[in-house]
Amino acid sequence: MLVTAGPTREPLDPVRFLTNRSSGKMGYELAHAFSGAGHTVLLVSGPTAIDVPDGVDFLPVETAAEMHAAVEHHIGRMDVAVFAAAVADYTPAMVAPEKIKKTGERITLELVRTPDILGSARESFGFAGTLVGFAAETENLEANARDKLRRKGCDLVIANDVSKPGIGFDSDHNQVLLVFPEHTEALPLATKHDLAHQLVQAIFETHAVKRC
Ligand code: C5P
Repeated sequence: MLVTAGPTREPLDPVRFLTNRSSGKMGYELAHAFSGAGHTVLLVSGPTAIDVPDGVDFLPVETAAEMHAAVEHHIGRMDVAVFAAAVADYTPAMVAPEKIKKTGERITLELVRTPDILGSARESFGFAGTLVGFAAETENLEANARDKLRRKGCDLVIANDVSKPGIGFDSDHNQVLLVFPEHTEALPLATKHDLAHQLVQAIFETHAVKRC
């Protein structure tokens, strides 16, 4: 099993970076639950404050480009890949070699797109296993998640509404929709720990059906 987790960190200069509010909790709970179910797990993670679960192989990365390279290198030997990382969509076009000085009243940052790791899994990396993505949306949750499922060739997209207070980003709780190619299932609000066990179950069922 491959699990990506956490935020990425996109450097601006030697002391500054762009990042997001992802805590990494959902991905780490998933890695823990997969490992507890007896599977070999590689956790590719951006920087978080969480301890690596026992029995999980760990590959720390910082940037979206590093996460892309790590996934490209390892995905070929995986049966299941779950992309729970909150990967930055843009990265600074240039990393200043020295600390950026306080000069004018305004500065402009130029950002360029990062590689779409989930979107690379099928076409670029040739991954034929069970592919699971996450979708964090603030509107049209199910429709946006279903669109992502089709565009990226996923078997399942786990969608959560990040506009709702108390769930999702940096929270211990989450409430998700499971969006499959043929149907959608809503799971009740739960701790990320309990939810991880339900998600692992759903992912295994999906994997078993796919192998038939
Ligand atoms: O398009 P969006 O960023 O909402 O897609 C979220 C899903 O895509 C998550 O599974 C996330 O881990 C993955 N993703 C990725 N590489 C990116 C952006 C998102 O793997 N550059």
